[in-house]
Amino acid sequence: MSLSVVILAAGKGTRMKSPLPKVLHKISGKPMIWHIVNEAKKLGEDVTLILGHEAKSVEEFVKDLGVKTALQDLKNYPGTGGALKGFESEAQRVLVLNGDMPLVTAKELEKFLDVEADIVMGVIKLKDPSGYGRVVIKESQVEKIVEQKDATKEELKIDTVNAGVYLIKTELLKRFIPALSNQNAQKEYYLTDIIEMAKKEGYSVKPVFVDEESFMGVNSKLDLAKADEVMQKRIKERAMLQGVTIRAPQTVYIDIEAGFEGECEIESCVVIKGKTIIKNSHIKSHSRIEESQIEFSSIGPYARIRPGSIIQKSHIGNFVEVKKSRLNGVKAGHLTYLGDSEIESGTNIGAGVITCNYDGKSKYKTKIGKNVFVGSDSQLIAPIVIEDDVIIAAGTTLNKDVPKGSMAISRAPLKIIKDFYYKFFGKK
Ligand code: UD1
Ligand code: MG
Repeated sequence: MSLSVVILAAGKGTRMKSPLPKVLHKISGKPMIWHIVNEAKKLGEDVTLILGHEAKSVEEFVKDLGVKTALQDLKNYPGTGGALKGFESEAQRVLVLNGDMPLVTAKELEKFLDVEADIVMGVIKLKDPSGYGRVVIKESQVEKIVEQKDATKEELKIDTVNAGVYLIKTELLKRFIPALSNQNAQKEYYLTDIIEMAKKEGYSVKPVFVDEESFMGVNSKLDLAKADEVMQKRIKERAMLQGVTIRAPQTVYIDIEAGFEGECEIESCVVIKGKTIIKNSHIKSHSRIEESQIEFSSIGPYARIRPGSIIQKSHIGNFVEVKKSRLNGVKAGHLTYLGDSEIESGTNIGAGVITCNYDGKSKYKTKIGKNVFVGSDSQLIAPIVIEDDVIIAAGTTLNKDVPKGSMAISRAPLKIIKDFYYKFFGKK
């Protein structure tokens, strides 16, 4: 049977207490909606997102994800049922997913496709069901779903809840969505009401028990943190099984798009952001690497590698910040800022060296050749080119290019004034 997937992402997400639309809140470096779209697309090409609240900013984000979008009339038809008003599908079945389930996987969703019924819905058994719609099951069929705000005392005790995933025959959606009413505590059109309608007319509604972890709904910042923790566990387990050594993994944070190759070691309290690629490298404690490429290098402890850096066969030590720079065979052991620079092999950058890449208006490049020795506490005022085999003496403020084989030195003349101490403070 052919399939359409619809993801509901029009809600305001009031409980997030944030101006950012709920589905754009990030988990492991990517908005929730990115995660669910990624998984949904594994099930088929026909994926539609229902947008509403802050539709423009969500649309802006999803425009490159290869999905269709439709707008919900939130004013006249609020609620998860309202979201499907006007939705049409050529396919025989529609898989409806809440957009606030960032941990769901295609593998789990595939289980729904094998169940024979007019509606198949995901249910979770929970110790604490609060916040979720309660599911009334009789003789292994779902009778109805009662939202928490509409539930009686007895219904609130039900610990089987609605996961927010429904596989529905398209003809049923066509019939029942227009028939929904908003006579409930929230004055909203609940998608969940179609279950009772379908059941009353003799259709079959079967529950699929799914695990709590993959189907948790994110409604608050607390849920967001819990979901991120699960995603982090998945990401790090995958990396470790792939052969990456991670020390104290519970202290390490790795974004979902980061990748590893070869023999890598990640020490405790490391953060790896964005599309970073790490090959055969050792990242020491308390370092942060953002959108960069690290190959055959050691980084840290306490280093910060900012976006756009390519670091190969290099050693970057503590308190070194590198931004949008290409380093190949370089040693920068301590306390340095290297921004918008290109540095070739055999070059040593002393402690306290700073590329002055910004003049308050624009950014400029620093180019340093092979086998250069940059003495400690030098300032390299960009744009500047230092050719191969150059010595920059410690404490130099460099504002001219330096030709191959030279030394550059700028220093205020040193004075030593004998007995000045005693004249100033007197004898102690
Ligand atoms: C919903 C279910 C509840 C279930 C829970 C699972 C309903 C009525 N209730 O409750 O039974 O246990 O999910 O997580 O469906 N949305 C729209 N348009 C709207 C309102 C919401 O597109 O007008 C979207 C939201 O963006 C969100 C999803 O639908 O992605 C669910 O909405 P939310 O408000 O989180 O519903 P819950 O109260 O969690
Ligand atoms: Mg929800």
